[in-house]
Amino acid sequence: MTDTQAQAQAQSQKTSPIQDPAEAMRTEASEQPQTYWRAAAELLHWDSFPTQILDDSRSPLYSWYTDGALNSCYNAIDRHVEAGRGEQTAIHYVSPVTETAYSISYNELLAQVKRLAGYLVSQGVQRGDRVVIYMPMVPETAYAMLACARIGAIHSVVFGGFAANELASRINDAKPVMVLSASCGIEPSGVVAYKPLLDSALAQASHKVAKCLILQRPQYQAELQPGRDADWQQAMQTAPDADCVSVKATDPLYILYTSGTTGQPKGVVRDNGGHAVALAWSMKHIYDIEAGDIFWAASDVGWVVGHSYIVYGPLLVGATTLMYEGKPVGTPDAAAFWRTIAKYKVKSFFTAPTAIRAIKREDPDGLLLRGVDLGCLKQMFLAGERCDPDTLIWAQQQLGKPVIDHWWQTETGWPVACNLMGVAQLPIKPGSPARPVPGYQVQVLDESGKQVAAGDYGNVVIKLPLPPGALPTLWQNDQRYIDSYLSMYPGYYLTGDAGYMDEDGYLYIMSRIDDVINVAGHRLSTGRFEEVLCQHPAVAEAAVIGVEDKLKGQVPLGLVVLKNGVTLGDDELRQQLVALVRSEIGPVAAFRLVSAIPKLPKTRSGKILRATMRKIADNQAYTVPATIEDPATLELVRHVLGKLGYADSQVKEHR
Ligand code: COA
Ligand code: AMP
Repeated sequence: MTDTQAQAQAQSQKTSPIQDPAEAMRTEASEQPQTYWRAAAELLHWDSFPTQILDDSRSPLYSWYTDGALNSCYNAIDRHVEAGRGEQTAIHYVSPVTETAYSISYNELLAQVKRLAGYLVSQGVQRGDRVVIYMPMVPETAYAMLACARIGAIHSVVFGGFAANELASRINDAKPVMVLSASCGIEPSGVVAYKPLLDSALAQASHKVAKCLILQRPQYQAELQPGRDADWQQAMQTAPDADCVSVKATDPLYILYTSGTTGQPKGVVRDNGGHAVALAWSMKHIYDIEAGDIFWAASDVGWVVGHSYIVYGPLLVGATTLMYEGKPVGTPDAAAFWRTIAKYKVKSFFTAPTAIRAIKREDPDGLLLRGVDLGCLKQMFLAGERCDPDTLIWAQQQLGKPVIDHWWQTETGWPVACNLMGVAQLPIKPGSPARPVPGYQVQVLDESGKQVAAGDYGNVVIKLPLPPGALPTLWQNDQRYIDSYLSMYPGYYLTGDAGYMDEDGYLYIMSRIDDVINVAGHRLSTGRFEEVLCQHPAVAEAAVIGVEDKLKGQVPLGLVVLKNGVTLGDDELRQQLVALVRSEIGPVAAFRLVSAIPKLPKTRSGKILRATMRKIADNQAYTVPATIEDPATLELVRHVLGKLGYADSQVKEHR
């Protein structure tokens, strides 16, 4: 089913206005945000309950719970132990790639985190210091994040699929006093040695890191550098315990780097207070999860989903989280997710549409689902990329449960638009993440800043202030935050997404307005790809676009103009460029499509016509821009894309 068909179907089913019990919450959160979010703050334990709920004195920069003090780790662990939940499982660790599974109680989690926090303190890590965590999906990664939170240090987790160079640029920006890492990650393709990547990143980085703590995994023993690297297990044997440090609600809890338009990633800052309140609120109202429930977000701790909904969200409310080291398919098969849900009695499950597409490809008729008792599962949530209606409908039919598309981003830290499953389920319209979540005042604006009519496309923005939990700024760069997000429409936050809202107030997020692409739910910058391609000595110029992919949603495709006199063959060029991107950005880039082109299509002022190229690749109708320098270049593009397996139909051009 296409988006248009899905929309038409939703329209024809419409009989009466949608009754939405969340409307009153939405109104209160936007009209009386201080009252609304003061009440929500009571979900937590505060060392000092805030009296100033929202500080707008530095508008357009806002802060929440300004004079409050708390500790995020205390709220995620200690208070549940003190309340008698110590024996309850905090984390089910399930690792099909190592054939390991065990459960960690809140008591055990507390012991591990206290000890690791004590070790960090013994190494001189202090409140406000940064600690970079470059680790795979093992419980120690969660311990590391929580140990930092315990002592008021700021963690910055870097996804394991990023290469040394990307790690180095994050180290240079965050300037950590310490790095926590592991010897390796395990991918279906085999063991991925992390430690050599870390060593290379530390050698490349201009910021020098004096201390590393390395978790040796049985699959690969890393070489430790004397004087710098300590062995995790040994360190834990002698480390003292550390207690929670009370921090200001506005103190940063973590920095998470995400791709923007340029090659330089943006350091999204998350504060302690707003974050904890928003996540605790979201677990109950959005995900329908309370203390004692089992929640599983099948993502990676390196992404925002992992931060919010593998680690902090479920633990903040005393639920059990499931941490999974494996893939939706191939580890060992396409029923792995379903068996895990059934075995661990997962109530709400969260994954990316890509994962469902991968399962559907292997098991189109859902045969592997038969015989798996999913009685425990109430609903499945999808996010991370646009969810095509077919995928949602397929999942719904196979599971016989509500499948909830929801929209958010690293910057917001928690859902912006979603069917609030803990409040009341609204009708599901495939292709739409439903209505805005209370606290987010979402609008769709045209270029001049005017709100567009229902059904019309525009830029999706959020009226300021953003609710608690959303980014207060970028790491040590208020100006970049203002320039990138708050300047285009004063008084509004620019999401970078484009789409529309229908007459029922349902949002449809259709595309990005910038050069960000989304590959298998992973957000990447085409600008960064272009920078890397231009490092190749044969390349004079490069343009990278995201093209449609049946499995991953989008994949990057590069077109390069070679320097005069270069005689490299097509295959050789491709191999070298693919290897270059893999070594500079990492395997997660999934970069395989690249070809030389004699000339790139540009405007007369020299701007590369990436949007037009993307439309040609995806067989969409396009307009030849009036400002094009050389219209013949579009034919060149069509020809080269055709050779790469894209642009296979002749779409009539509109002028
Ligand atoms: N450490 C090291 N390497 C990693 C990695 C990690 N943490 N995560 C991924 N990689 C590597 C993979 O091994 C693969 O390398 P390869 O080119 O050598 O095979 C590459 O990065 C791409 O990985 P991935 O995006 O996982 O693609 P895939 O083709 O291996 O698998 C899917 C396809 C659909 C199964 C997979 O993309 C998937 O599970 N997607 C769901 C995404 C998701 O949950 N996103 C989080 C946002 S909510
Ligand atoms: P990230 O910051 O990596 O979480 O990526 C966020 C971006 O992914 C958003 O800005 C959207 O472009 C896209 N995205 C995430 N979830 C959805 C969704 N449910 N529907 C459409 N796009 C989505």
